[in-house]
Amino acid sequence: MTNEKVSIHGIWASRWVFILAATGSAVGLGNIWKFPYMAGAYGGGAFVLVYLCCIALIGLPVMLAETLLGRRGRQSPVNTLRSLARQSGASERWSWAAMMGMLAALLILSFYSVVAGWALDYILAMARGDFNGIDGAGAGARFDALTADPLRLTLWHTLFMLLTAFIIGRGVVAGLERSLRILMPLLFVLLVVLLGYSLTTGHFMEGVRFLFHFDLAKVPEGILAAMGHAFFTLSVGVGSIMVFGAYMPRKASLGSTIITVGLLDTVVALTAGMALFPVVFAAGLEPSAGPGLMFVTLPIAFGTISMGVLFGVVFFVLVAIAAWSSAISMLEPAVAYWVERSGKSRPAVTALMAVFCWVVGLGTVFSFNLLADARFFVTNTDGWHFFLWTSEGGKTFFESIDYLTSRIFLPLGGLLFVIFAGWVLDREVFRGELALKHPRLFPVVYWLLRYLAPAGILIIFITELSK
Ligand code: PHE
Ligand code: NA
Repeated sequence: MTNEKVSIHGIWASRWVFILAATGSAVGLGNIWKFPYMAGAYGGGAFVLVYLCCIALIGLPVMLAETLLGRRGRQSPVNTLRSLARQSGASERWSWAAMMGMLAALLILSFYSVVAGWALDYILAMARGDFNGIDGAGAGARFDALTADPLRLTLWHTLFMLLTAFIIGRGVVAGLERSLRILMPLLFVLLVVLLGYSLTTGHFMEGVRFLFHFDLAKVPEGILAAMGHAFFTLSVGVGSIMVFGAYMPRKASLGSTIITVGLLDTVVALTAGMALFPVVFAAGLEPSAGPGLMFVTLPIAFGTISMGVLFGVVFFVLVAIAAWSSAISMLEPAVAYWVERSGKSRPAVTALMAVFCWVVGLGTVFSFNLLADARFFVTNTDGWHFFLWTSEGGKTFFESIDYLTSRIFLPLGGLLFVIFAGWVLDREVFRGELALKHPRLFPVVYWLLRYLAPAGILIIFITELSK
């Protein structure tokens, strides 16, 4: 019997619970809401191709690094990196990487909660039958009316934040497992139902061609966007997976666990894309519609099929739950850290963090209405302007937070995590922790982690900067 270290925050019952929690974290608005509209904005196939490569060659190695580091350190990401760095004779400043990730996760949560609030609003609207027989223009107007109303957005945002804080306040290990075991499969079944509907639109192949027609010439355009989204969708680069890894039992095999999570996430995203785009084309909408895409296309589908009201309600409930299981994983790294650091109770720490995210989230709420003209990152002929009051160019508050987190913080965090696992952590510690079933694969995995993943991230960063 070794004197194994256990996290003070709890431990999963088995490897399966980790898979459920990590999949719960990974599968969320990123797959159903963000992936389709980003694919739409960046022209489809070329984006999807880069995205898939980034998942396989960069995202999965980062996920492996995070899980392994978390399980080895058994603390919040910040303290895990600090103690592992100390044991390896490296600078404790490595913990800053996790600090940055922790902040990025809170910033993501601030807008994620607002969008999840849209889904809550749609549950009600569906139930009322607002969408029966609606067309593209009507669905668009309905969405615009929602985002134009700051009070309604704030209400839903508040409710979602409370739901998230409630689970984290009680602790992640209890409560999560039972619900996810049932809900995740159900979400997938409903996506397949929607896929069935999209087959009847007569535009199914058009949708598939849009997603899978890989035009290599278009690849450079959205390359950073695709890499950023690969990080976002897998929940890596911020410490969410690392903190869940800290609650993982020692015996579990890491490789197959991570591949399972990555595959499930990818399958859900592609299914969502194939369910949505045929509806887009059938209704004569633009694939590049932006963040409203899912909230405009899905009502059309549900407004047409029989029992659409029932399916619609259930679907948006599931979307909200998928968002919820992701949201809790954004809060956990910061809460775990603050509990360790301050010794204060978990509920008190949770409340503090949730209030911070709620306040920042108001910026996103208002970026769709009152402050729609407040633009950051505005460029004009004189070069860079940080901030400008204009309706053209630049990025709204919501777009700025999304841009900063997905395109910069996540890839940077991921880069530092793989470098730490590959170069700072002792090779034999890594090998032992990984415990591959087929030890002959070790050099391949280690090479991916040490060279390919970091090089890939750097190359994409540099390509983007030199544009
Ligand atoms: N992976 C989640 C999604 O796709 C989002 C997320 C990002 C969750 C970062 C945790 C951390 O919706
Ligand atoms: Na995802």
